[in-house]
Amino acid sequence: MQSEISRQEIVDGLCAAQASIAPKYLYDDLGSRLFELITHIPEYYPPRIELALMTRHADEIRAAAGTGGALIDLGAGNCRKARALFPTLRPRRYVAVDISAEFLDRALASMHAAFPEIGMFAVGADLSAPVALPAVLDGMRRVFFFAGSSIGNLQPQGALALLKRIRLQCAGRGGLLIGVDLVKDEAALHAAYNDDLGLTAAFNRNVLNHVNALLHSDFRLSDWRHRAIYDARLSRIEMHLDAVRDLAVAWPGGRRRFAAGESIHTENSYKYRLEDFTAMMAQAGFRDIRAWTDERAWFAVCYGGA
Ligand SMILES: C[S@@+](CC[C@H](N)C(=O)[O-])C[C@H]1O[C@@H](n2cnc3c(N)ncnc32)[C@H](O)[C@@H]1O
Repeated sequence: MQSEISRQEIVDGLCAAQASIAPKYLYDDLGSRLFELITHIPEYYPPRIELALMTRHADEIRAAAGTGGALIDLGAGNCRKARALFPTLRPRRYVAVDISAEFLDRALASMHAAFPEIGMFAVGADLSAPVALPAVLDGMRRVFFFAGSSIGNLQPQGALALLKRIRLQCAGRGGLLIGVDLVKDEAALHAAYNDDLGLTAAFNRNVLNHVNALLHSDFRLSDWRHRAIYDARLSRIEMHLDAVRDLAVAWPGGRRRFAAGESIHTENSYKYRLEDFTAMMAQAGFRDIRAWTDERAWFAVCYGGA
């Protein structure tokens, strides 16, 4: 993926008045491992609810999405959720797409052995740009799978644009199964992104290791503190790294000063009202939209036909 990493994109983000690093840089190999650990911590509710919804509503999901086509997992991570879907959707082909290519390759290798009847393909790609799918999918019915509320990492207009691109790639058949985190009590959101073990903090601070590797910059992790806050007006969690003292960061050809308390914005995680999210799916052209939520309406799994 190195070739697709834009050094200029990182420099531009660091030099902006509100410094930022795009969230995709959270996922180097260690970042992917740290995220995998986060999915096990009690405060981080989304993976447990999403998996439970997929299990509880497997029959309805099968009826809506059909069986036997291609399953295309966007931002697949460790592929665990797609694996849980295999008995429901019985895909003939499975294509896992992720920017964290080495981590993805390892995840897929273990899946191959467990499901030899499914043709599997790993695609290391950045979803910010259109992704070329393997030619073996030509003419196949395609069900896209976008789990983990990764859609929430995009600004709403970017989310709509991605949904439209996905629908076009369904080629009028198949659809999209997508997990989305919902607006809820602020205390639950705060706890999920400020876990007591400090795993989310480690995940966030590790982005600086990744940037150092890509940019040859000299970030020192001990100079930065994790902060995650909920902005109720924008319905989003914001993750930041705050400088703990006045400092400067340098890289070949550039430098940026940070005052104590100044931050680098590393991730947004938008929370949707279910009706707003399904309206956005409809606006992207999806039809016959179904949605399944848990008792507390904390998370939803939605399906829309292309
Ligand atoms: C929140 S995790 C979800 C992982 C998995 N789908 C799950 O639900 O457990 C986001 C995943 O998307 C990948 N990712 C993030 N930004 C990406 C991008 N721009 N292009 C491709 N993959 C990306 C990350 O590497 C990570 O595996």
